[in-house]
Amino acid sequence: MVGNREDSKSFSVITKGPADTQAFGACVGSVLFPGAVVGLVGELGAGKTCFVKGVAYGVNATPDHEVTSPTFALLHEYVGSPSVYHFDAYRIDTCSEFTALGFDEYLEAGGIVVVEWADQVIEAFPEQRLMVSFEIRTGNERCITCVAYGAAYDALLEKLRSYDTMVGQTV
Ligand SMILES: Nc1ncnc2c1ncn2[C@@H]1O[C@H](COP(=O)(O)OP(=O)(O)O)[C@@H](O)[C@H]1O
Ligand SMILES: [Mg+2]
Repeated sequence: MVGNREDSKSFSVITKGPADTQAFGACVGSVLFPGAVVGLVGELGAGKTCFVKGVAYGVNATPDHEVTSPTFALLHEYVGSPSVYHFDAYRIDTCSEFTALGFDEYLEAGGIVVVEWADQVIEAFPEQRLMVSFEIRTGNERCITCVAYGAAYDALLEKLRSYDTMVGQTV
């Protein structure tokens, strides 16, 4: 995994496989705070779910129950202090549908909220948030970029940058 140190509002790494993406997720998880909200954007197979598993690991939260529809899971809960609420908005068409799932209540519950396909329900998001985009490169490479919106998230990126073992090289 290689990372940049350039822009204070964003931080990118290139991962070379799923284990790498999960490890980066764990780094991000370890600097997230209770009440944090993270939106994930990227096409199918880009590594979003893989990243969330790492986040839960980094937060030290363990899988609990899944709230599922007949064909797909909308919400996975990882129990910990704080807990991680993992939403998947792939099949959600409207923000009101998303709100009906209890998004706001989860935001206020003091856990960490992570949403796949965040671009589909972005109007439901608070202004202050971390956005993480996933770009598929050649082979198993993924370029993952974290963008901070708000001071608390700027500080979080600053912590990520200080993980020298992770950011071995500048992109
Ligand atoms: N660098 C990488 N990071 C994450 N996943 C990768 C990477 N390279 C290959 N893959 C593969 O891509 C797929 C990513 O799946 P997933 O995390 O479910 O994506 P998404 O949730 O974005 O649809 C997995 O099959 C994984 O093995
Ligand atoms: Mg997914």
